[in-house]
Amino acid sequence: MEKLYDLPNSRQIRLIEGDITRISADAIANAANSGLAGGGGVDGAIHRAGGPEIMRELDEIRPTVGRLPAGQAVATSAGRLPAKFVFHAVGPVYRGGHSGEPEALAECYRTCLSMADERSCRSISFPAISTGIYGYPAEPAARIAIREVISFLRDRALHVQEVIFVQFGAAAFAVYETTLAYALQVDPSAN
Ligand code: APR
Repeated sequence: MEKLYDLPNSRQIRLIEGDITRISADAIANAANSGLAGGGGVDGAIHRAGGPEIMRELDEIRPTVGRLPAGQAVATSAGRLPAKFVFHAVGPVYRGGHSGEPEALAECYRTCLSMADERSCRSISFPAISTGIYGYPAEPAARIAIREVISFLRDRALHVQEVIFVQFGAAAFAVYETTLAYALQVDPSAN
């Protein structure tokens, strides 16, 4: 399943149901952890599909950055993935929503979008960061992701033309479909 949303200035949001490791984009955002140590979920899938080169690069980066706080990200190459870069972003662990989680999640998206633009990427794909093992409820997480992406594409993107939301499963896809329809309808400049 796939849907395309046109924004002003030839910018686009693409919504895809599927596996993010199978979808081409200049940059892929990964839902990583503070230790940059790999794990399950989409992180495991990205390392498996991308191959050992990605972890080798993280092994070199880890001592220089220490434990990465939520909201931040580091870049590696993409190994065998159909991309140039992977941005390993640390999402917040959900603890009820009043411990800074919304701000940290928003920062994750802003960080990755800026990293993509700085590297002259045309496209970047995102999974639903924090909504798996980290427990962030899908709907508020989707509202934050979509708000940040629309605002970035409208006001700040120089190189990024397309943001791809890759949702795992029909239920997650439906949440994004509804949230995107609402966000684009209430934001007249993003119609
Ligand atoms: N493609 C796209 N989305 C995927 C894929 C995939 N191949 N695999 C899982 N997902 C989806 C999940 O369904 C969920 O909606 O990605 C979303 C994020 O889930 P997690 O991967 O569990 O990430 P997160 O909740 O941010 O937890 C991060 O998980 O594996 C660890 O190292 C990672 O410790 C970190 C934690």
